[in-house]
Amino acid sequence: MKILVTGGLGFIGSHTVVELQNAGYEVVIIDDLSNASESVLDGIEAITSTRPEFEKLDLRDRNAVSAFFKKHADVEGVIHFAASKAVGESVHKPLLYYENNLNSLIYLLQELVEKNEASFIFSSSCTVYGQADELPITESAPVKPAESPYGNTKQIGEEIIRDTAHKYQNFKAIALRYFNPIGAHESVEIGELPLGVPQNLVPFITQTAAGLRQELSVFGNDYPTRDGTCVRDYIHVVDLAQAHVMALTRLIEGKNKSNYEVFNLGTGTGSTVLEVIETFEKVSGVKLPYKIVDRREGDVVAAYADTEKANNELGWKSELSLADALDSAWKWEKKVRGIQ
Ligand SMILES: NC(=O)c1ccc[n+]([C@@H]2O[C@H](COP(=O)([O-])OP(=O)(O)OC[C@H]3O[C@@H](n4cnc5c(N)ncnc54)[C@H](O)[C@@H]3O)[C@@H](O)[C@H]2O)c1
Repeated sequence: MKILVTGGLGFIGSHTVVELQNAGYEVVIIDDLSNASESVLDGIEAITSTRPEFEKLDLRDRNAVSAFFKKHADVEGVIHFAASKAVGESVHKPLLYYENNLNSLIYLLQELVEKNEASFIFSSSCTVYGQADELPITESAPVKPAESPYGNTKQIGEEIIRDTAHKYQNFKAIALRYFNPIGAHESVEIGELPLGVPQNLVPFITQTAAGLRQELSVFGNDYPTRDGTCVRDYIHVVDLAQAHVMALTRLIEGKNKSNYEVFNLGTGTGSTVLEVIETFEKVSGVKLPYKIVDRREGDVVAAYADTEKANNELGWKSELSLADALDSAWKWEKKVRGIQ
């Protein structure tokens, strides 16, 4: 069965392509290489012994998307990762974010509703919950007003998909709300390749340890948490990738309870920034230079997932630890930088 993975050369997409191929799915990737390199295909091939089909295409090109579906009429499911994802940049370039994240989605859906049957998995984010009133966060927690255009594209994206699934019975979808994906494949053949200065904690940590950044800034240590730093739910990207295969299979096998469902993907455990630093130092043996600076605008105090729905209904549970994830992220960083 052929599955289209958009953004399949990116961080989460590439790990998901590996798990899909391991599960026996045939994969075709669309990526415009705006935030990825074609060489990721070599990494995927090295792990799975199969080179997925690849079409370099910008999903904002309506005609190109249409032509793709004519050529690949046998695509039965889509996992849609392709998006612009830098929160800070989205504040400065809101229209670019709305154009890329929403037009691409709409053009895909316009093709899919024309098929006899289609299964669709959407990359959403825990950012839709903002600072939730209760922790851990369940899927029924209210969606809060978005803090950034990026966050808003995820909220609007979910609404577009929900309304589409409501109208078209041949179209089934699951929105997966990720917490904080980190780590790399254990083979060290694929991993995260942030462009420019990383916006997320773990790539910043590994780049600092590798000597690319002088010092790590910890944004605030006066939050109402156990050590004053923000709490997040860090999930290993390989666990996350496996959840996508399970969600897709659930739709294909018709095991879904309604034709639009939402699941949190997290470990259920929150870690503070200082705990992440400490765990990193332990697994890497590298002392990290860091300093405490002012709070960063838009950061929520704490977010971690209630995983019960994903555990019970999707049959998925994260297996790998924070230490596993940091260890793999460090091995990947060392490989990319040529450090022994
Ligand atoms: N990484 C995270 O922390 C995180 C958290 C929550 C949600 N998400 C979502 O998960 C998805 C994947 O994230 P990621 O971290 O793997 O990002 P990524 O940037 O590594 O991957 C996205 C891929 O999509 C491609 N792409 C972007 N716009 C495109 C377009 N118009 N046409 C074709 N390809 C295009 C990029 O080249 C890139 O390879 C995104 O939708 C992101 O918003 C990520």
